[in-house]
Order: sequence, then C-alpha cells, then structure tokens
Amino acid sequence: MQGAEPFTLLCCRDAAGVAELVASRLLEARQRWPQLPLGLATGRTMEPVYAALQRQVARLDPPARQVLREGWLSFNLDEYVGLAPRDPGSFAQAMAQALQQPLGLAAEQVQLPDGLSPSPEAEALRYGAALQASGGLGLQVLGIGLNGHVGFNEPPCTAELGCRPVELSAATRLQNAAAFHGDPKAVPAEAITLGLVEILAARELLLVATGRSKAAVLHRLLSEDPSPQLPASWLRSHPRLTLVVDAAALAPGPVGPVVSST
Ligand code: GLP
Repeated sequence: MQGAEPFTLLCCRDAAGVAELVASRLLEARQRWPQLPLGLATGRTMEPVYAALQRQVARLDPPARQVLREGWLSFNLDEYVGLAPRDPGSFAQAMAQALQQPLGLAAEQVQLPDGLSPSPEAEALRYGAALQASGGLGLQVLGIGLNGHVGFNEPPCTAELGCRPVELSAATRLQNAAAFHGDPKAVPAEAITLGLVEILAARELLLVATGRSKAAVLHRLLSEDPSPQLPASWLRSHPRLTLVVDAAALAPGPVGPVVSST
C-alpha cells in the first residue's frame, strides 16, 4: 500500500473490552510522556472508554492517583462553533461530565477549543499554538466518522492542514444528531478541529472503532491507499499507529452504512 506504514491491529471481543484496553493505554501514556498532553476525542465510542478510565483510576493507590490528577493535561480534538461550554450538546460539557468532574480535575487541565470565540479563525490559531507550546501530543486517541473523518477533518482533506474552523457535512450532522434530540439541523454547521498536522505530530496514535456501523469505514481504512477522500487514511503514514476495534467493527459481510464524500 502506497504511503502507509505497518500498524498494529488489536481486536477485542466487544466495546467493553475495547474501553478497558484504551483506558489502560491512556494511563500508560501519562507515565510514558508525563510532560506531554494527551489528545482526546468525544463521541459515543469514547463514552465507555472514559467510564473505564474512571474505574481504573479509582483502583490506583492514592499517591499514584494524586500524581495523575496533578499532572493531567489533555487537549480535545474539536468543538462545535457557537456552543457554550455548558451547552448539553457541546464537547466541553461531554468532557466535563465524562472526565473532568469524575477525576476531580481543574477545568484548565482539560482543554478544548472555545466554541464561543467571536473569531473561530483566531481561536483555532490560539488553540493550535497552545498545544504546540505544551510540547505537542503524547498519545492521541481518535474515533472515526462514518465518512472517514477524524476529529472534524471532513473529506476531502489533505494531511497538510492544521487547526482550523471547518464546515460540517450533512452526513456528520446526521451522525451526531443524537446529542441534539435527534435533529440534524440542530447540530451546529461549523466546528473547530485540530488538523492532521497536529494529529500526525503526536508521538503515538490510537484509533478506536466499535460496532457494526463502523465496519464499512474500517474496511475502507484497511484496504484503500491514503487519500483525501478518507481523512483517517492519513493516520496510516504514522510510524506508531494502533487500531483498537471490536469484533463487530471488523465483521465481514453486509455492513453498516457506507458514507462516501461525494
Ligand atoms: C465525531 C467527532 C469525532 C468522533 C467521531 C465518531 O463527529 N468529531 O472526534 O471520533 O465523530 O463519533 P462516534 O464515536 O459517536 O461514532
């Protein structure tokens, strides 16, 4: 395959197994790169991961838990434009509930783009620069959209794009409608996302896909050459990429919706 590096594929029995594995990789990354922030994602795939992380952190001995809390710094991939951090549909709110409050972290330890900035362009530049000033990402965990997006890097998208405001596709607004009472029109039309530049600069990447609905896009990722039509395919040029999937996402045969960019 052109432009692709070898990668590791880990297949767990189910989403619960995936969640435990990814949570333990997050804890390992904190020890391996204590000075570097984690790169985090939102979405339904990640919800059980943060629940597993809470359980694993609760099992740490108190001094180790304290070290983890004090040293924590993470940067999320993306945020919707126009939503306040307290908006129930915002990624900031999702992270507050899934991670920041349960782990007892300060708000500034869990960084996201400011969706309410009057200038999304300026906010994207500020966010990208803040990440760079923190040393770049240690481990970056990513989900995958049905159309192959990572973060909110919608197809078509090159690997040379950095943090920026983006317009969301109809497919993505439909995929994410559940957090907006099932109404795709209520999903913001714009977002700020880290680009492939910041993502590929992470020391290690972990792409997570669970459930039958991800089987089609996972098949594309495993079989197509890297290209702008499948933004996740750029991850395959990274020397330390691990795919963590469950059996349903890897299943052959009739699969979930195929969403292409055209
Ligand atoms: C969303 C987010 C991504 C996320 C992906 C998968 O739109 N921007 O960061 O990984 O789509 O979401 P889900 O896990 O809900 O399928």
